[in-house]
Amino acid sequence: MNKATRQIVMATGNSGKMREIVELMAGTGVEIVAQNRLGVIPTEETGATFVANALQKARNAAKQTGLPAIADDSGLIVAALGGDPGVRSARYAGPQATDAENINKLLDALHGVASRGAHFHCAAVFVRDAADEHPLVAEGIWRGEISAASHGSGGFGYDPVFFDPELGKTGAELTRSEKNSRSHRGQAIRDLCRLLLAECNGSGAAR
Ligand code: IMP
Repeated sequence: MNKATRQIVMATGNSGKMREIVELMAGTGVEIVAQNRLGVIPTEETGATFVANALQKARNAAKQTGLPAIADDSGLIVAALGGDPGVRSARYAGPQATDAENINKLLDALHGVASRGAHFHCAAVFVRDAADEHPLVAEGIWRGEISAASHGSGGFGYDPVFFDPELGKTGAELTRSEKNSRSHRGQAIRDLCRLLLAECNGSGAAR
């Protein structure tokens, strides 16, 4: 991104993700615009990795708007399940699955299993244009374990069964700022913002 760039499109419909990145980029002179405000039609997520899916979303938004774009993709990885649900986390119990259905499927799959270690993984990417061959890529990991039952009412997705042993709480029992400071997404977005700021300031860290 050169210094003349003023707008970046964020390839998400998730207002929580938008809020976080807008806060992190405050004061840089860069305006982050949600893709739905620009009429972007979202793309399918068919990649085999979080990075591939994030790039697919970012390139799609850049192609339709002509602007640089940011996207992220994340999911839950459970060691005892060979890495499932992984990139299929949102669709684990079926294409239109609700969070409750995904959680029930996960708890059933882990019924009687003693080894319950898991982590969330997030990839956050920035492309200068749809064909950018040197995207900025940042990744974050949040380690924990899958509890036997749901606890808490905050967050989304698998948060009620994702237990953070250091905090002694599930993701759904954390405040928004507690979760942002620990989470895979918070880490990846903060790192991506650092790379972006370095690029804006011309330090050459980007390429
Ligand atoms: P996305 O790519 O960030 O939209 O995440 C894909 C899916 O992974 C979500 O639909 C959730 O099921 C799961 N997931 C990702 N991040 C989190 C999180 O922070 N808490 C709980 N579930 C998450």
